[in-house]
Amino acid sequence: MAKPLIVVTGKNGQLGRELETLAASFTGLDFLFTGREELDLNNPDSIPAFFKEHRPAYVVNCAAYTAVDKAETERETAYAVNAVAAGNIAKACEELNAVYIGISTDYVFNGNGTSPYLTTADCDPVNYYGYSKYMGEQLAREFCSKSIIIRTSWVYSRYGNNFVKTMLRLMKERPEIRVVNDQLGSPTWAADIAAAIVQVIQQIEAGKAVYGIYHYTGKGVISWYDFALAIRDTAQLSCEVLPIPSSAYPTPAKRPAYSALDTAAFTKDYGILPKDWNTALQECIRQLS
Ligand SMILES: NC(=O)c1ccc[n+]([C@@H]2O[C@H](COP(=O)([O-])OP(=O)(O)OC[C@H]3O[C@@H](n4cnc5c(N)ncnc54)[C@H](OP(=O)(O)O)[C@@H]3O)[C@@H](O)[C@H]2O)c1
Repeated sequence: MAKPLIVVTGKNGQLGRELETLAASFTGLDFLFTGREELDLNNPDSIPAFFKEHRPAYVVNCAAYTAVDKAETERETAYAVNAVAAGNIAKACEELNAVYIGISTDYVFNGNGTSPYLTTADCDPVNYYGYSKYMGEQLAREFCSKSIIIRTSWVYSRYGNNFVKTMLRLMKERPEIRVVNDQLGSPTWAADIAAAIVQVIQQIEAGKAVYGIYHYTGKGVISWYDFALAIRDTAQLSCEVLPIPSSAYPTPAKRPAYSALDTAAFTKDYGILPKDWNTALQECIRQLS
């Protein structure tokens, strides 16, 4: 019997690369990893032909315009990639009776919450990146009856640019750094998201599909300052880390003050349990060293 084909977009991103690393050990599934060269999501019209040619059973859409601050000014590109392309891929999935798995963000919420956001909570993004990702969720769900949206947050890995790698670099270069302590959320290791996605696909293959919106993040709610302290201590560096308010570190895009996500639905429907954020951080830093 032919193995189901899984097309993964964003092969050069943090999550795409973790999925590619993991894919090697899943011989029962066929993967096709794509980057801009194979499929440019800023050219949404090219999408239908690509999917007609490859005819996947699943698409994991990891590609995204992820430059949160630049998205405030490069709105057209952010919308084309995060919203229009997501919708077009979902449409192509519907035509092929394929499953669309889209990755979304905690930035769909406004951050005024005080307890982890449920998957059913109202979305109200405070920046354009969050808005474009929210529209991508909406279009995907509208166009594909077999769609799964997995919202995650504060993603890091050994690959690409992320908070952990930036902190490690700065902590080696400087005696002291300042990090905001009034934004709370949950760091998530991309390798854990990749494992969760493969688990979802295996469960669907086993006939236990449930479609809809899910949340998956590391377990625990901390500030960026707490995260920086943990990075320093895990890497055994001696840089001084000072807490500052967000008002002392103005950025073009506003960030939600609180963006922890309730992951219970994912555990209930797919049996996926988030890993403690600190355990995951230690594993990632071990890989980096
Ligand atoms: N990073 C986070 O903290 C975070 C938090 C919450 C949710 N998410 C979501 O999680 C998913 C994975 O994030 P990530 O951290 O792996 O992102 P990433 O490292 O920034 O990777 C995104 C990938 O998308 C690709 N891409 C961008 N524009 C494209 C286009 N026009 N055509 C084709 N590919 C394009 C990029 O290609 P190039 O390499 O060529 O630029 C990059 O490889 C995204 O949906 C993101 O929105 C991320």
